[in-house]
Amino acid sequence: MSNLAQLHGRHVVLGLSGGIACYKAAELARELIKVGATVQVVMTEAAEHFITAVTMQALSGRPVATSQWDPREANNMAHINLSREADAVLVAPASADFIAKIAQGRADDLLSLLCLARPLKAGGQPCPLLLAPAMNREMWAHPATQRNLAQVAADGALVLGPGHGDQACGEVGDGRMLEAAELRDGLVASFQPKLLAGRRVLITAGPTFEAIDPVRGITNLSSGKMGFAVARAAQEAGALVTLVAGPVHLPTPRHVRRIDVKSAQQMHDAVLPIAAEHDVFVATAAVADWRPASASDQKIKKDGSGQMPTIAMTENPDILAAVARLPGRPYCVGFAAESHDLARHAREKLVRKNVPLVVGNLGPATFGRDDNTLLLVDAQGERELATADKLSLARELVREIARRIGQ
Ligand code: CTP
Repeated sequence: MSNLAQLHGRHVVLGLSGGIACYKAAELARELIKVGATVQVVMTEAAEHFITAVTMQALSGRPVATSQWDPREANNMAHINLSREADAVLVAPASADFIAKIAQGRADDLLSLLCLARPLKAGGQPCPLLLAPAMNREMWAHPATQRNLAQVAADGALVLGPGHGDQACGEVGDGRMLEAAELRDGLVASFQPKLLAGRRVLITAGPTFEAIDPVRGITNLSSGKMGFAVARAAQEAGALVTLVAGPVHLPTPRHVRRIDVKSAQQMHDAVLPIAAEHDVFVATAAVADWRPASASDQKIKKDGSGQMPTIAMTENPDILAAVARLPGRPYCVGFAAESHDLARHAREKLVRKNVPLVVGNLGPATFGRDDNTLLLVDAQGERELATADKLSLARELVREIARRIGQ
């Protein structure tokens, strides 16, 4: 499934309780629809003070439900009808008052009523409830709010956020509702099977930069997109993810611990001491094989001879091979970026680096792009993952890894 259809076929009840952040819910409705969801908006009376049902109806393409007493419902059970149809209920914004209500199981308006009436789905789990808190920082920090949140989380709700930053009241702190795109991604992630629940996954990503002098260096065209997609997919699958990133301009996937490095040696020094604490190591980084033997402290000037100065090079440590040699090593996955003879080179790396799985891809065809084609090579054989966006491929790769490590 393409990245653009990540919620294809999902029906989402988008609940709005009262708060300034209701204006962000308009954008959220659009984001959810853009990735394929159908959206049924339900608003509390308080929410209607902040944004009109007309706006939300126009954006969602469906009449907004606001009352449990709506006589147009044939059975007069809006709360049952709405919750039975939903694949997930996302309340954004979730006010302090609304969270308190849910914590107590109160049901005196349509939105809280339908949250309480969520049915069990296949697998015995109730229809998921996701809450996006939005409130002033003092309200957020209040022990009553924290107590209520702990209760709703213990009852199975997934709390997305809040974020940190400027607040409508002019203060700065925790309590901002997450942005629409973050909530969309949180909802998408909640639907992913938790194939790596509790597993620790270490990933290298991006290029490395090998300094020649203070203004120049050797690097390559890797964008880091594949490695960042693997980090996101592993996190969505329930893993605790550490991402060691070379110099790239990509946002850190949510809930992923990121360590920034520049050179291959720094990447090696960041990875090796922590590798054995992880269950899986995925080496997606395009690590420079060579570095200048000694970087000059000063900019190297032309000497007028017309000759480029000779730069002595030395080989970088092979991070993947070093991790694969560790006692108690994690399950190691290598990437092979090739320009030709993909299967042959990938298999050769499988043996040379002594790892159980190598993922081949054609470097020039994928560096910097949003899509890729992967060839999985292991002792059993080969499997191609057809051209797709990198996040979809990363999710497929996570499934393959989970299967191989027996989870
Ligand atoms: N790798 C690594 N450290 C290095 C070089 C490579 O960890 N110093 C890892 C890469 O992250 C990748 C795999 O090894 O997972 C293969 O990298 P690649 O650059 O394709 O292969 P090389 O080992 O450099 O071999 P060759 O030069 O023959 O292509």
